[in-house]
Amino acid sequence: PVLKEAVEPLVKWYRANRRQLPWRENVTPYRVWVSEIMLQQTRVEAVKPYYERFLKTLPTVQDLAAAKEDTLLKLWEGLGYYNRIRNMQKAAQQIVYDYNGEFPESYEAIHSLTGIGNYTAGAIGSFAFGIPKPAVDGNVMRVFSRLTASYEDIMKASARSMAEKAIEEVIPEDAVSDFNQGLIELGALVCVPNGEAKCGICPLAHICRARAEGLVGELPIKKKA
Ligand code: ADE
Repeated sequence: PVLKEAVEPLVKWYRANRRQLPWRENVTPYRVWVSEIMLQQTRVEAVKPYYERFLKTLPTVQDLAAAKEDTLLKLWEGLGYYNRIRNMQKAAQQIVYDYNGEFPESYEAIHSLTGIGNYTAGAIGSFAFGIPKPAVDGNVMRVFSRLTASYEDIMKASARSMAEKAIEEVIPEDAVSDFNQGLIELGALVCVPNGEAKCGICPLAHICRARAEGLVGELPIKKKA
């Protein structure tokens, strides 16, 4: 029930406190995709200049599909994990050849693209198309662990899938994107790691089980991989 009770205050909080970020303007599946892949390895402030330059150079899926390797490597240089950009180009080519150049609009089709897993498919599907699927990354796992006072090791796939299932059950149909982004934003700004959690300004403090039980400093459990 704690998750269900979180929905309304979280959406309200997000709408009042969301940061203005480049990928939250002119939301398209392509723009969400590029941002989420970059954000998987790099902080928001560091991503911004890369993101702007990438979109300026390769504004469409077609441009990405047709780009030369050295163009891609230059755009990605400094972000690391070069497989990600190689996978993105493969996926862009799949979109061009298998979907006629139109970003697929079903969760399953998005998920089947190279390099796109549950998190990225959920983010693209929910932010760009309003598909009621969860987007559970490390931020969201931290929020979920604390809200539910869960001792599950968040590095485990089983913990991730439990969180996904529980969150999917409460996603509000009329605020899919704001709810999912609210969870991410709360984890980034308020429910932060390493003893820095700002419970005093948290819109969910009154229902948080970790807070009630004095466990905010101990959760989430994150064992070495
Ligand atoms: N971290 C991962 N995804 C993000 C997003 N969409 N906005 C801000 N921070 C994020």
